[in-house]
Amino acid sequence: MPHDVTLIATIAVGFVLAFALGFVANKLRLPPLVGYLLAGVVMGQCLPNLMATNSMTGQLADIGVMLLMFGVGLHFSIPDLMAVRWIAIPGAVCQIVVATAMGTGMAMYFWGWTLGAGLVLGLSLSVASTVVLLKALDERNGVGTPNGRIAIGWLIVEDLAMVVVLVLLPAFTGMLGGHVPTTDHAADASLLASLGNTAVKVSAFVLILLFFGPKVMPWLLRQVARTGSRELFTLSVLAVSLGIAFGSAELFDVSFALGAFFAGVVLSESDFSHKAAANSLPLQDAFAVLFFVSVGMLFDPSILTRHPLMVAGVVGLILFGKALAALAIVGLMGYPLSTALTVAAALGQVGEFSFILAGLGVTYGLMPAEGVNLVLAGALISITVNPLMFGAVEKLTELVQQRPRWKAHFEDSRAERFDRLRSELEVARLELEKKLHAHKTFSPEELVARFPLFAGLTPEQRETLILHFLPKTASPGDRIIRSGDKAEAAYFLSSGEVEVAVNGRQISKLGAGGFFGEMALLSGDRRSADVTALDFCKYLALSQRDFRRFVRKYPSVYEQVVALAKERGNMNRQFLDDLAHGTVPPLA
Ligand code: CMP
Repeated sequence: MPHDVTLIATIAVGFVLAFALGFVANKLRLPPLVGYLLAGVVMGQCLPNLMATNSMTGQLADIGVMLLMFGVGLHFSIPDLMAVRWIAIPGAVCQIVVATAMGTGMAMYFWGWTLGAGLVLGLSLSVASTVVLLKALDERNGVGTPNGRIAIGWLIVEDLAMVVVLVLLPAFTGMLGGHVPTTDHAADASLLASLGNTAVKVSAFVLILLFFGPKVMPWLLRQVARTGSRELFTLSVLAVSLGIAFGSAELFDVSFALGAFFAGVVLSESDFSHKAAANSLPLQDAFAVLFFVSVGMLFDPSILTRHPLMVAGVVGLILFGKALAALAIVGLMGYPLSTALTVAAALGQVGEFSFILAGLGVTYGLMPAEGVNLVLAGALISITVNPLMFGAVEKLTELVQQRPRWKAHFEDSRAERFDRLRSELEVARLELEKKLHAHKTFSPEELVARFPLFAGLTPEQRETLILHFLPKTASPGDRIIRSGDKAEAAYFLSSGEVEVAVNGRQISKLGAGGFFGEMALLSGDRRSADVTALDFCKYLALSQRDFRRFVRKYPSVYEQVVALAKERGNMNRQFLDDLAHGTVPPLA
């Protein structure tokens, strides 16, 4: 081969195998995820020389995680996060503590590991992967449901907690019997200092993003959308998501995934969140596949025969230990069984953060190298089985719904809190919709229905045009255009009626669907008439620059506008002529 193509080989073989095995999995009625993971295992075992290094594969997977977390953020606004905080924060924290204790106990008691090793393993197993959860929810249309939101919120709290754990680990390492490589400066800092440092950095990041983001980011996307270039828009979405993810990791020590998530949250408040989501979806899908392939590649299957009991212990803890803990916690908090079951299923797997943490634990000499293999085995098996857990949860929920006694006991008697949370989520959704609606002038279809002038444009061109309109209103008697003024914009009347007057005399009336202010823009002269609102009017302003650009770009629109302006000009000349000759009746 002419030059090093290992990265290309990894991506190409990864996609081909993932596609083939994903397809087979689908035919066998298994989730495609299983196919992707297996593709990775095959690659790791059969083609190790052809493949990129582990670190490069890991980076590809990270891109997938970032894009996916960005997608989660896009569908998750700040009010949403606030609505689920009372269940997600205490729930996730309790569950991490319980699961870590279980993992530590198992490793110390049964395997004779040290406290440090047990803690790292326990913590790695205590968190679940948001990426895996999203795929599972997505397949069941569950992302937008209250239970889905609770589960996502819960896992996001876990992700945040893991950021803190990753930062604190070096400070604790010495105490737990490991040692941090000398290049890692964090080891020098005291515990309090690293805690304070992390708290300040993470808060600074979140504050900056939440304060400036909602103003700057939607504005930026709007400007890009106005260019009408789909390519530029997609690029801007990628630049924002990956840029913030990388920047936040570099500047604030926030993980890539979390940075990308907050970038998504900020953009979720903009009118373009749907467009941004749609444009980044294919990339999210493709890179998420690489994430699963890379998990498979890193996996060493020999662990299954070397330490079958340890693997069984890890898998048991992930699938049942964590699920039972979550079930108990959510139940104790007074939520219905269906919520507890969803969260339990959501937690029945481990993913991206677990690998990072286990890897660090080995690097710091806290955990035996086998620990990473155990976590990977646990991840591979639990991710494969997880969709079945969701299936079982669905069946169980249905079963409870069908039995009036069970339903009354497990669901109805516990509905109060859940209903409150659901209505909070509903309020958040309505508010967001209202906010987005306030910015919207028209849908592309409405635009054409109201202004036949634009019928010749493609839906995309209409959408771009809408972005250039500035909605305005006028009350009866308001003068929208004054004769002799300089021209700044053209106007499109969407409702109400205006009067056009030349020399103080009414010459015409325009109703909804009419436009005015084009004559001075086309000729470069001053305004030729007064335009006054006769009743409450809503109209859209198109600035001089945008008007010029627009008519230049769309000759069919230009011809219609010019023709009408000419007609109006002739009519006015005739009118002024008649006025001069006294054939127009004098004003009463
Ligand atoms: P402009 O000259 O920029 O500003 C006043 C506007 O009134 C003008 O553009 C036309 O859009 C509108 N206008 C002028 N004369 C008539 C007319 N005879 N009938 C309808 N509209 C007119």
